[in-house]
Amino acid sequence: MKPLRIALTKGRLEKDTIALLEKAGFDCTAVKEKGRKLILPIGNGEIEVVLAKAADVITYVEYGVCDLGVVGKDTILENGTSFFEIMDLGFGKCKFALAAKKGTDFFAGHHAKTIATKYPNVARTFFESKNMDIRIIKIEGSVELAPLLELSDGIVDIVETGTTLKENGLEVIENIVNISARLIANTASLKLRKKEIEELADKMEKAKE
Ligand code: PRP
Repeated sequence: MKPLRIALTKGRLEKDTIALLEKAGFDCTAVKEKGRKLILPIGNGEIEVVLAKAADVITYVEYGVCDLGVVGKDTILENGTSFFEIMDLGFGKCKFALAAKKGTDFFAGHHAKTIATKYPNVARTFFESKNMDIRIIKIEGSVELAPLLELSDGIVDIVETGTTLKENGLEVIENIVNISARLIANTASLKLRKKEIEELADKMEKAKE
């Protein structure tokens, strides 16, 4: 039987996921000593770990080349949901928030506000729910710069400890939604490899406690 393939988001979530898989009883030595390798076996080789960027985890799971994935709810909210969300893994906790320069009366006035963000879909949905007209400018990193450079009135971004906002004279205007890491599955895999996926999800659920 070919191994069950799970795509992990590289970086912060990768470490927490590997810690959880180890706690669930899988030998993760190959991943911990991976070097530049991107596909690695864990346990007795019954599972294969694929290391990818967050949005690519979703792509691989949607196309079914990976059966499972671990990805942040932020990426799920931004990139759509043609897959099944199995479980909240309880780590990678942060939130989406609307932020602006400290002391700004963000909602004052009637002009359309400009929002800089790496997450245009999340920002659009949030302001649509408020019936507010906005202009979105897509930024690829350190979105906090945009209001400081007066490119935008505010930002929609991820806030974890709040340090980045604080150190740059910005503050949260409104919390949008809480985020954490999720275990996702390809919908066909969920039918074809139901037993294996359920067993793995069970072990991860127990290790979470
Ligand atoms: C995220 C986010 C903020 C920062 C918030 O960026 O975009 O800039 O973390 O964290 P804090 O509230 O603990 O300060 P990340 O570090 O992921 O880098 P990125 O800009 O490359 O996405």
